[in-house]
This record gives sequence, C-alpha cells and structure tokens, in this order.
Amino acid sequence: MASIDTLTLPLDQTSADQLAASGLEYARVDADGDSYRPFQRAVVRGFLAGEPTDDESENARLTLRTRRLTAVYDRGGVEPEVPVGTVDSWATELTTSPGRQTGMWAISAVAVAPTHRRRGIARAMLGGELRTAADAGFALAGLTVTEATIYGRWGFSPATWASDVEIDTGRARWTGPVGPGRLDFVPRDAIAGRIAAVHERVRRQRPGAVPGWDGRWRGVAGTAPGDKEGDKVRAVAYRDTAGVERGIVVYTIADRNDFTTHELDVRALFADSSEAYASLWRFVLEHDLVAKVTARLQDPVPPVQWMVADRRAVTATLTDHQWLRVLDVPGALASRSYSAPLSVVIRVTDPLGFADGAWNVRIDDEGEAVVEPVSAADTVDVEMTVNALGSLLLGGVRVTELATAGLASGQPRVLSAIDRTFAPVMTPLLDIWY
Ligand SMILES: CC(C)(COP(=O)(O)OP(=O)(O)OC[C@H]1O[C@@H](n2cnc3c(N)ncnc32)[C@H](O)[C@@H]1OP(=O)(O)O)[C@@H](O)C(=O)NCCC(=O)NCCS
Repeated sequence: MASIDTLTLPLDQTSADQLAASGLEYARVDADGDSYRPFQRAVVRGFLAGEPTDDESENARLTLRTRRLTAVYDRGGVEPEVPVGTVDSWATELTTSPGRQTGMWAISAVAVAPTHRRRGIARAMLGGELRTAADAGFALAGLTVTEATIYGRWGFSPATWASDVEIDTGRARWTGPVGPGRLDFVPRDAIAGRIAAVHERVRRQRPGAVPGWDGRWRGVAGTAPGDKEGDKVRAVAYRDTAGVERGIVVYTIADRNDFTTHELDVRALFADSSEAYASLWRFVLEHDLVAKVTARLQDPVPPVQWMVADRRAVTATLTDHQWLRVLDVPGALASRSYSAPLSVVIRVTDPLGFADGAWNVRIDDEGEAVVEPVSAADTVDVEMTVNALGSLLLGGVRVTELATAGLASGQPRVLSAIDRTFAPVMTPLLDIWY
C-alpha cells in the first residue's frame, strides 16, 4: 500500500467544482516545474516563516518532489502564480503494533493565504485529500497539527500523545542503569544518515511511528540551509559491547553568560535498546556545564523519570501529537493486532460518510480482527464517533475515557472488554513532526 504512487492519482473533481464555483482554480503542482517556487513560498508564508532563500527552496524541493502537491489559485490576484491554498500528501507507513505497519495517507503543508481565509478553501482541499485517499484504498489518513481546533470537523482526532521534557540537571542525579557499551561523537556529515538508520529500526517497533525522510534528518542534523543553530549541532552515538550502533542523541547547547548553567536542547534521541536509551540520557544529564536539558516528542510518561533520584526534576508537558482519520473501518481495525478476544457490534457515526455504519468486530484468540458491516437492525453494543474510533485505534486512550467525555457509549462491561482488547503492547508515540 505504502508503495502507491500518489503522484499519478487524479485531482478530486468535487473539490475542483466547489472551488470553481468561487472563481478559484484547483491544480496539481509539479515540483520540477515553474509552479514549484511560488507553491513553496505560499507554504512558508502560511506557516509564518521568512521568505525562503534559493538554497532553502531547493532543499525543500528534494522532499517535495516525492510528495503530491496540490494548490488553489486565485487567478485574478496581483500574483496569480502564487497559490492561495496549499497541501502536500504522500503514502507512508504507520506502525500499528510492534513490527506491523499499514499504509497511511499523510497530509502536510495545509495553508490558506490570510487574504483568502474562511472562504472554504481548506474545506475543499481536505475533502479532496480524504476522497482521493479513500478511493485509492487507504484505510487511514494522518497529520500533525498547529492548532487543535481545525481538524476534528474532518473526522481527525488525536491518536498519539507526546511530552515536551525539561530536566533540571542539578536536581536529577542519575540513578538509572549504566550501559556497558561506548559513546562516540558522530562526524557532522554523517549525522543525518546515522539518525535515519537508527530511526528506521525504532519506528518499526513503535505503534504510532512513521518513517522519516532525508530532508527531515538533514534538518535535525543542522545541515539544512537556513538553520541558524546548524553549526552548533552535535551528535553522540551509543554502541553496544558487540560494536553495534544502538542509539543516537543529537543536540545543541545554548550560550549562557554564567558558564556553568548552559542549556542543552535535544533535537533527537532515538534508541533501539534500553541500554542505549539510558546511556544517551545519562550522557546529556551528566554533561558538564549544563543546568537544564530540554527535549520534545518524548514518551507521554518518559522512562527517564525512573532513572533519576528526583523525578520532579523532570517536567513532562503532555500534548496531542498525531491525529488519525479512519476512512475504512474494516481496513483500519484489521491493521493492528490486539491483546484479547472480542465480539461486539460497533456503530460508527461519520458525517462525511467514509466510516459511517454498524460493524461486527471480532477479534480471535490470536489477536487478529475480522470486521464486517451489519444491517442497522442488528443489536449495537457500542456507539462512537469516527473521531473517537481514530483516537482509540492504537490504544493510546481508553474507550471508557472517551465514554466519560460523551464520545462513545455502551454498557460498562462492553467498554471494559474493548479496553482490554485495545490495550497496546507499547504506548503509541510519533517521535517526529510531519
Ligand atoms: C487553518 C487554515 C488552513 C484554515 O483555512 P480556511 O480556508 O480559512 O478554512 P475554511 O474556510 O475552509 O474553514 C472550514 C471550517 O474550519 C473552520 N476553521 C478554519 N480555521 C480554523 C481555525 N484555525 N480554528 C478553528 N476553526 C477553523 C472554519 O471556521 C470553518 O468552520 P465551519 O465548518 O463551522 O464553517 C488557515 O487558517 C491557515 O492556513 N492557517 C495557518 C497555517 C496552519 O495553521 N495550517 C494548519 C496546519 S496543521
């Protein structure tokens, strides 16, 4: 599924018609054509960054060449070649259970010019993305969000959460395991490739994870054009006693007038073993002349809290991170393995229609799902919105909690059974932005 070439899929006619009715043009953008640079300028402006330099634009092109770029144009404008709406999307893999992946339609760069906001441009673009993804057979769409208020209306809902972590190193004091392997600096020009290699192993085991890409890793490594901190980026890798690289931490250290209170910011810490995770955290927490360590996109309850003498030296601020949208209920539910058998009829309400219906969900003794539609007359055990189903899918939240919030309903006994079945083997986590 993830190998589908989304660039060959046709433009959604419903969206094209909706936009044409407002005098707007919906079009695909060729990353190697003349329309690329204005497209990229519009994206950057939408996300409130400065005008991209030639180098930045060319660097972004390396990534966007692999993406399906779609734009909305107001040809009557002063700069008719600059889109008033942008979106990019691509087929990726979502890890649903350790070692198990499914195809997902990833969406990014959703931006509407502030001169054209609240006229339904995002609505047309998002509708086009969802219809194109569903028609191509994707059971799920996913995105990360700037604001929590935007995407619920299109059936997206948080499915993985992540913590921003701040650690007072003076209070923390390492009490965790001490890895038997070794730490070495990674040469600057090798950092991006080495992050990619570790992350590729990590993401296959972690529910909620998706693959990174070269441009993402160049950005983390500080080697992408326009990174003002780029020359401060350092990386240290952990190798186990067999000499195999097991993890990497990429960081910068900010200047401070008081030389003993520097702040170390972790740009990435990926480890595919517990000893590598502990060794890399110990390295940053015991770094000389550093008083504070910060890191983003860590586990909701970061394991490092258990590895220091004073857990309150670790402040973890939780936020929703990855939002999922179920497009095909049988496909989405069959994409993961489960922790206990189950037999229930779930009624899913989806105002956009994709997932709407009643579904007989059976999970066998091996934890595999078979999901079939049932007629409206059949007895329904549980009702939930498509948003709630997206949140529940990876087991990052309990259905009993969603029921408390009024997003699902059913007998307590049935809801508890669903929670036992959906309990994840590992807490879902998306450890990058996309
Ligand atoms: C968010 C954004 C794409 C919305 O585009 P838009 O074309 O103005 O949105 P639409 O006119 O299609 O709005 C559709 C609906 O979403 C609502 N909506 C749009 N933006 C919203 C926001 N930021 N917060 C809450 N609701 C929002 C509209 O009110 C409308 O609601 P309705 O269904 O009740 O009528 C645009 O404001 C933008 O580009 N923002 C900056 C970049 C950004 O944050 N992008 C999102 C990346 S994850």
